[in-house]
Amino acid sequence: MLPRVFVVKALHGGELLRIRNFEPKDLDRVMKISREGNLEGTSAIYLEVYEMCPEGFLVAEVGSYGVVGFVVVLLSTPAEGRIFAIAVDRDFRERGIATELLNAAFDILMSWGAKSVRLEVRVNNYVARRLYRKLGFSDFGYVPAYYSDGEAAILMRKPLSDKAKSSMRA
Ligand SMILES: CC(C)(COP(=O)(O)OP(=O)(O)OC[C@H]1O[C@@H](n2cnc3c(N)ncnc32)[C@H](O)[C@@H]1OP(=O)(O)O)[C@@H](O)C(=O)NCCC(=O)NCCS
Repeated sequence: MLPRVFVVKALHGGELLRIRNFEPKDLDRVMKISREGNLEGTSAIYLEVYEMCPEGFLVAEVGSYGVVGFVVVLLSTPAEGRIFAIAVDRDFRERGIATELLNAAFDILMSWGAKSVRLEVRVNNYVARRLYRKLGFSDFGYVPAYYSDGEAAILMRKPLSDKAKSSMRA
């Protein structure tokens, strides 16, 4: 059944953005984007999560550039989803791609019955915290030394509903 395309949109400049399920051939690009984004996921972890739940692993592709971003979501309880990882290639940021990835991921979580979604974000990651606030997340906790380098995490949560969607700027 996979891969399935969720979103096709034109960006400024005419390139087409496609959001589809991850395939193992995307792993090298995903790892490059993940490392560049300072995420802690290893290729073994991403593959394990994909094998556990392939529907929750989406990539964004732009025209001939190939994969430029990804999001991984899971269920942490039957009623609550979790953003496990999200990142966008530096050259493609601030064009609404993370917003599109997250909105597609929220649809998947809702189709699984989730009523809310949570995540952890580095305290100093103001760009991501701003993105999440814009999409309707609020802070609900703080975990000291959550990351391997000792940085603390902010816990954020949002209720899931069709009304909470945000549109892309490009
Ligand atoms: C966080 C990240 C995924 C955002 O991706 P993106 O495709 O650039 O995000 P979008 O274009 O959809 O931005 C949506 C909103 O995010 C916020 N945002 C994005 N880039 C920003 C920046 N450079 N400065 C401030 N706010 C920013 C804004 O609120 C923006 O909406 P606005 O421009 O209308 O104000 C990207 O910066 C990234 O990959 N960072 C490294 C990995 C990471 O931190 N992942 C999150 C881990 S919890």
